Amino acid sequence: MIKFENFSFTYPDAPAPALKNINLEIQKGAFLGIIGPSGAGKSTLTYAINGAIPHYYQGVCQGQVMVDGIDVFDSTPETISLKVGSVFGDVESFFVASVVEEEILFGLENFNIPRSEIEGRITSALDAVGISELRYRSISSLSGGQKQKVAISAAIALRPQILLLDEPTSELDPQSSRQIFSLLRTLNKSNGMTIVVVEQKIMLLCEYVDRLTVINDGEIYSTGSVRDVLSTPSKLEKIGVNCPRVTTLSSKLAAAGLTNEPVALNLNEAESMVRRIIRDYIR
Ligand SMILES: Nc1ncnc2c1ncn2[C@@H]1O[C@H](COP(=O)(O)OP(=O)(O)OP(=O)(O)O)[C@@H](O)[C@H]1O
Ligand SMILES: [Mg+2]
Repeated sequence: MIKFENFSFTYPDAPAPALKNINLEIQKGAFLGIIGPSGAGKSTLTYAINGAIPHYYQGVCQGQVMVDGIDVFDSTPETISLKVGSVFGDVESFFVASVVEEEILFGLENFNIPRSEIEGRITSALDAVGISELRYRSISSLSGGQKQKVAISAAIALRPQILLLDEPTSELDPQSSRQIFSLLRTLNKSNGMTIVVVEQKIMLLCEYVDRLTVINDGEIYSTGSVRDVLSTPSKLEKIGVNCPRVTTLSSKLAAAGLTNEPVALNLNEAESMVRRIIRDYIR
């Protein structure tokens, strides 16, 4: 479990805190999406989970962040990195090797994984992500989606309990974006990995994640199940977060007194809702 308790953080020389009094619990096995406007503090929140704060970004901190029972501030970066795997949108600048296999190997050697385990870990990390055939390819020859998968593969080779991703689909087309999210779903549902993903594409979040946390101006604006968080689209639009059109439509139908069903999260749900409304109307 990840637990923020009254956590605040101010970057060095920044005029205001990037995170203010955050209280948040992320349960083991959760599949959580984080949304919010640009500059809200989403990436900063991820830094507090993977130990980049305080081990890389110095600044003024208050409160506490616990990851799997360990206080991030009392821990070493190595200890946290074995618990939390991190993948960032701009993976290009994070690759250290030129061939896929070497990239995975680098992380394993860096963390002193015993020689006898290395082959098995590389094979299963590639297999879990479905890119076994890319093992000997040069990274520069891969597509954006394939590079993301390599980055995820390298992260999960360390067998972290938590996988943290910051806009993993920012460089990807819709189809590759869906592939990444369906991979994350498999890692979450089949391997029990806790997944925390910052993502702008709200339709993807609607379809795949179980819970949403909305960050605005360094604070938690809203948190809960996807349907609960999206149940008041006007509240989210106020801070510049656009809900899916089906959600907005269904909430307007409810506001007009035509339905008392919860908001629709996808086209199928919206269609069924509209069909029921019409059926009741003409009855
Ligand atoms: N290294 C840094 N030094 C100083 N201030 C920073 C630093 N990184 C971010 N900030 C500031 O902290 C606040 C939160 O930034 P953060 O990058 O966490 O936002 P974000 O929600 O991830 O935004 P985006 O959607 O654009 O990625 C912003 O005001 C930003 O300018
Ligand atoms: Mg960010």
